[in-house]
Amino acid sequence: MDETPPDPPSNARRRFLIGTGAITTSLAAVSHAEYFSQQPPAMQAYTTKVVFKLNGEPRELELDSRVTLLDALREKLGLMGTKKGCDRGQCGACTVLVNGRRVNSCLTLAATLDGDDVRTIEGLGKSGEPHPAQRAFVERDALQCGYCTPGQVMSCVALVEEVRAGAPSAVTADLRAPVSLTDDEIRERMSGNICRCGAYVNIVAAVRDVAEGKA
Ligand code: FES
Ligand code: FES
Repeated sequence: MDETPPDPPSNARRRFLIGTGAITTSLAAVSHAEYFSQQPPAMQAYTTKVVFKLNGEPRELELDSRVTLLDALREKLGLMGTKKGCDRGQCGACTVLVNGRRVNSCLTLAATLDGDDVRTIEGLGKSGEPHPAQRAFVERDALQCGYCTPGQVMSCVALVEEVRAGAPSAVTADLRAPVSLTDDEIRERMSGNICRCGAYVNIVAAVRDVAEGKA
């Protein structure tokens, strides 16, 4: 006959909790191990093929689908003219044109560009024959360190086309009249391009020269 006295209620409760805790912990360990065993190898890349036009030339790239256009340009294609400033869409140093529209290449996945027409600063002018926007920036001394300049120039090229097409901006007063390119319009339309050297006065002058065909 078992004469072991029954546990007082508080001890029984403690044993129950320890037992269920151990079971829960081992279950968690098993499901954790299972979860990680089902993951693909950490370094496995999901590559994709992209066919697009770059500065007028057809290009085909096989790349990781997570690569940005900026990194593809600089690290895969060796085009260092497009600059990486913030890498998060805040400075505009990485501005390039996609189908004639400016984009932040640091926020654009290269894999999304299949069939598109990409233009970078390298595709604007030729050696000894700069694009009018490049000439205007030099003539107006619209740079100091030059780090932001490729992005500024690309934005300027797109801006002039936007104004010619009659696209209004946030500061356009009369949406029915042709856009008048005031300094406020230029500043607003170039506001995505930060110049840490503060060459803004001369940048506005250079953009105006390009828009008015003086460069
Ligand atoms: Fe792309 Fe700054 S590097 S916006
Ligand atoms: Fe230096 Fe613009 S010229 S950041």
